[in-house]
Amino acid sequence: MSGCAALVLAAGKGTRMHSDKPKVLQTVLGSPMIACVLEALRPIFEGDIWIVVGHGAERVRAAFPEMPCVLQEQQLGTGHALQCALPALKRAGYTHLLVVNGDTPLLSESVVRDFMAQADGADIAFASIELDCPGSYGRVVREQGQVRAIVEAKDYDPARHGSVSGEVNAGIYYCSLCAVEGLLPRLRNTNNSGEYYITDLIALALEENSTVRGVCCGRDANLMGVNTSAELAHMEELLRTRIVDELLASGVIIHAAQSVRVGPLARVEPGAELSGPCEIYGRSLIRRGASVASHCVVNNSHVESGAEIRSFSYLDEALVGAGALVGPYARLRPGAILEEEAHVGNFVELKKAHLGKGAKANHLTYLGDADIGEGTNIGAGTITCNYDGRHKYKTSIGKHAFIGSNTALVAPVSVGDGAFVGAGSVITKDVPDGSLGISRSRQKNLPRKKPE
Ligand code: UD1
Ligand code: CA
Repeated sequence: MSGCAALVLAAGKGTRMHSDKPKVLQTVLGSPMIACVLEALRPIFEGDIWIVVGHGAERVRAAFPEMPCVLQEQQLGTGHALQCALPALKRAGYTHLLVVNGDTPLLSESVVRDFMAQADGADIAFASIELDCPGSYGRVVREQGQVRAIVEAKDYDPARHGSVSGEVNAGIYYCSLCAVEGLLPRLRNTNNSGEYYITDLIALALEENSTVRGVCCGRDANLMGVNTSAELAHMEELLRTRIVDELLASGVIIHAAQSVRVGPLARVEPGAELSGPCEIYGRSLIRRGASVASHCVVNNSHVESGAEIRSFSYLDEALVGAGALVGPYARLRPGAILEEEAHVGNFVELKKAHLGKGAKANHLTYLGDADIGEGTNIGAGTITCNYDGRHKYKTSIGKHAFIGSNTALVAPVSVGDGAFVGAGSVITKDVPDGSLGISRSRQKNLPRKKPE
């Protein structure tokens, strides 16, 4: 959006969360709160989104390495955060700014667009919401309907500011840089928090006869902020029901919907089937005709059409091809790729392992750094010994091979197309195409001593 940038305030410590993690990295349905905010802003602002970092700056930067950040070394308040960002924003040539608190995880693109449309033309505008209990929110003070100020909860004095109306500041602002530039140096921290409040810009702008607009968004719970663990749980549940309702409306089949948790960045196609309790997080994609059974966690993974994820399976950064079967009790770690119709059964762990079309590893197996060809069968208890304490090595198994039960494949090693490995073997040398590899001591049957 030319000339206008978005600035996400994310430097605060989040003292009320009692956690060492920067507050904006606390998660809702598997995604950091700030990721939800960024997601709402991205379609509007694309590359023009900046983050103010401070407390735990390195962790926030590391979570979003592609985003431009401004450092607020000391967290002296939201007004101070804007002061810190202003020089960089001016240098980048912006004329207008949307400022958003990073702890508003249910923010949506449409709310931002509506607010900006109504704020257009003002020197400074803010979004407000109506709450029965204004709690710790900044109170909007109006006289005959005209905004006079935002007064923070700690500083609110009914004798001076009038009785509380229930209209509170949502923590979203739109301003012209020109208008706020002259006002920011006039912010004072002589208040009950000892902080420089962004909200004081409203009264200062009115003193200058600037155009100030309070855009009331009604009782929109989606604009509430998160300061405490109870608020985090409340907002997470609001988001969960919103997402599940949207999925149901679109035609996703959901059993035990009250215990299905789908993250804001995940996609589930109409005609996919989910059974609660289950969790689908990150940028996961569940295609039409695929199913995820109860007690599964699917994170940043793709499940193609007709694939079945059976109960108690855990998938992280995995790709499950069309018609594949996973679980029950399977663990797919990052880099697990199942081509169509592949089967991975109970107590099987895959890491950076590629299973070709129709390949099977059905019981009690670990396949790491492995390439398994089409139609190959991996017997129960097979282990790729991929790590020697220092380095990881690869195991390659060709097409239509058969690995007998309880085989240890000591990598680097390869087993050729159509090869057969005898059960209980420790394979340290390559097995050529079509050969039988076997390495175990021969069974002897000795005459049994007669019991005394
Ligand atoms: C703020 C508003 C309040 C509003 C509420 C809406 C102020 C002074 N008050 O209060 O009017 O009703 O949000 O949710 O702004 N931050 C920084 N640097 C700092 C301090 C905070 O970047 O020095 C960031 C935080 O990380 C957070 C955001 O600013 O994302 C808001 O800060 P927070 O302390 O949560 O403000 P509230 O008390 O909720
Ligand atoms: Ca807050």
